[in-house]
Amino acid sequence: MAVILRTEGLNKDYRLGGFGRAKIITALDDVNINVESDRPVIISVVGESGSGKTTLAKTLLRLVEPSAGRAIVYDKVVAGKGAQPSKRDFMKSVQPIFQNPFEAFSRYRPVDAYLFETADRVAGLQAKEAEASVDHALVAVGLDLADVRGKYSNQFSGGELQRISIARALIPDPSLIVADEPVSMIDASRRMIIINLFKRLRDEQGRSFLYITHDLATAYYISDFVAVMNKGRVVEFGAARDVMGNPQHDYTRLLLSSIPTTRSRWRPRSRIAG
Ligand SMILES: Nc1ncnc2c1ncn2[C@@H]1O[C@H](COP(=O)(O)OP(=O)(O)OP(=O)(O)O)[C@@H](O)[C@H]1O
Ligand SMILES: [Mg+2]
Repeated sequence: MAVILRTEGLNKDYRLGGFGRAKIITALDDVNINVESDRPVIISVVGESGSGKTTLAKTLLRLVEPSAGRAIVYDKVVAGKGAQPSKRDFMKSVQPIFQNPFEAFSRYRPVDAYLFETADRVAGLQAKEAEASVDHALVAVGLDLADVRGKYSNQFSGGELQRISIARALIPDPSLIVADEPVSMIDASRRMIIINLFKRLRDEQGRSFLYITHDLATAYYISDFVAVMNKGRVVEFGAARDVMGNPQHDYTRLLLSSIPTTRSRWRPRSRIAG
């Protein structure tokens, strides 16, 4: 079995202010999670605003250096002490999808330029292979190069643009995709397209996902594992069925009860989702 994701005593302190008045914010406080599996998985991270979800994502993406501890992705130390792979190897294996697809692509540059840039700089592909790889990635998200070539971000809907950013993430053939609130800026009617795409990419292409969200309904619907965060700590972690079907921790119960639907509406909604 592979260690798909493991964090060991992961800690991140942000220091604010100068001498004397320095204030420390502990964004990650001894985070320990462990997912071992033969098959690719979707791991959701839920928790209220400020609980440390984005900091966890950024640590795994090497955008933030942990203050202590380390993280392992597919058996490689990717963050903290002993982080092994070179930046390029690392970027091939872990790829991000961000919240706002309109921020990910400049209005002044055709979106396919980003895809070809990733094919060249991250995946290291030659022109001809790059063309095939970009098209292949776009087909995987329900588009193709002919739909996209020469167009700018304002010529796409938020949902389409998010699918293009997923295609960009696929080009280096990553094993883990870290998606921080990938559907929160997307029209509610289009969210399930993205969510189902994650499932399909897990099942058909063997990608694992770290899916960060406020939306417990979609987390429940797609996750194999769920981590519940509160104030920098993982307060509950386990198989999605256990964590959300039978929460052990008061905070998880609170989070589940704060879904803006009643318990009885929650069931039909998740059935629609399925
Ligand atoms: N660069 C930074 N400098 C200082 N403090 C930061 C920085 N980034 C995050 N924080 C603080 O760390 C804590 C965790 O923030 P983080 O962005 O990880 O939360 P989050 O769970 O992603 O929240 P949200 O759901 O609102 O996106 C918060 O208290 C935040 O204010
Ligand atoms: Mg966040």
